[in-house]
Amino acid sequence: MAPSLTSKYQAKIASVGIAVPPGLLTNDDLSKMVDTSDQWILERTGIKQRHIAEKGVATSDLAAEAALKAIEKAGLKPTDIELIIVATITPDMILPATACLVQTKIGATGAWGFDISIACSGFLYALQVGCQFVTTGAHKNVLVIGLDVMSSIIDYTDRTTCIIFGDGGGAAVVQRSDSPDIPGMIDFIHEVDGIGGPALCLPGGGSRNPTTAETLEKKMHYVHQDGQVVFKFATRKMADLCVKLLERNGLTGDDIDLFVPHQANLRIISSSAERIGLDMKKVVVNIDQYGNTTAGTLPLALNSAIEDGRLKEGSLVLLASVGAGFSAGAALMRWSY
Ligand code: UT7
Repeated sequence: MAPSLTSKYQAKIASVGIAVPPGLLTNDDLSKMVDTSDQWILERTGIKQRHIAEKGVATSDLAAEAALKAIEKAGLKPTDIELIIVATITPDMILPATACLVQTKIGATGAWGFDISIACSGFLYALQVGCQFVTTGAHKNVLVIGLDVMSSIIDYTDRTTCIIFGDGGGAAVVQRSDSPDIPGMIDFIHEVDGIGGPALCLPGGGSRNPTTAETLEKKMHYVHQDGQVVFKFATRKMADLCVKLLERNGLTGDDIDLFVPHQANLRIISSSAERIGLDMKKVVVNIDQYGNTTAGTLPLALNSAIEDGRLKEGSLVLLASVGAGFSAGAALMRWSY
């Protein structure tokens, strides 16, 4: 049974703002740090460069920048925001929640908030949660942020992970959709499967393995990934969920105007698009510019599509995510400003 989002109101994304640090790390730069090459990275991942934050720049700094842009584009003031949800796996610190830091930085006095930690599915899950508060009528203006400073948890001597990830992300203002023809968010489907935990994790620093000299020496404070296991899961699951979502809404890939997938690997994106029955012309790809920014990829991709004029009033949009957990999801929305 499809979960209903039509409780009282419809919810839509009213605006998107992004923030990426200016510093660039190119494939050629990486080939001077580890045994890799521009050709290998480009062929295997589709990535050309990623943005990397300067030392001292944390998730809340970039999140606040993105949030202020989104709030301004929505024609609001920070004090209009009632709820802030931050999806990140790179909080400034374990506590307080990054949402609290962003609230103060942007001056959203009166807002409450919390963080969501579900890695690459973070923005989509946070968006869904934010929409629920709008559809119930509890809130009118919700700020949903997906942003990661991945460089803070990556081992730049490990060529299997350091080539993939980058820093940045964005924020979206979620509001009521008053147009009956353009309902905004239509449906969603999300799944987690904890069996995939060991394939993509950061084993140190939590309650299982609190930080010690030993955990640091074993590099347990960095992301560990079994790339092929994640690759296989991502390719199958992202497509499966999208197809399920389309089918239960009586749609096929032909009906979709734009597919906005998590940007983890161009091969995962193109294989998923093919399985869903979508022409690559309908797919938003910006992994070449940003790499995999974890919770940041979907707002960055939405922003690219807006700037390129590909996201139009009334466009039927399919969003999809997949990542650590395992976690995966897909959502269907009719775009309107
Ligand atoms: O956001 C969700 C989280 N992550 C993902 O979605 C990542 C999913 N996985 C992937 O994107 C891919 O598995 C990777 C990009 C991580 C790796 O690509 P792959 O095609 O699966 O490579 P592989 O692990 O099968 O390795 C192939 C070869 C190996 O050498 P041998 O054993 O064939 O001699 C690796 O040692 O490539 C080697 N290799 C590299 N060579 C140059 C692995 N990393 C590199 C590298 N540069 N950076």
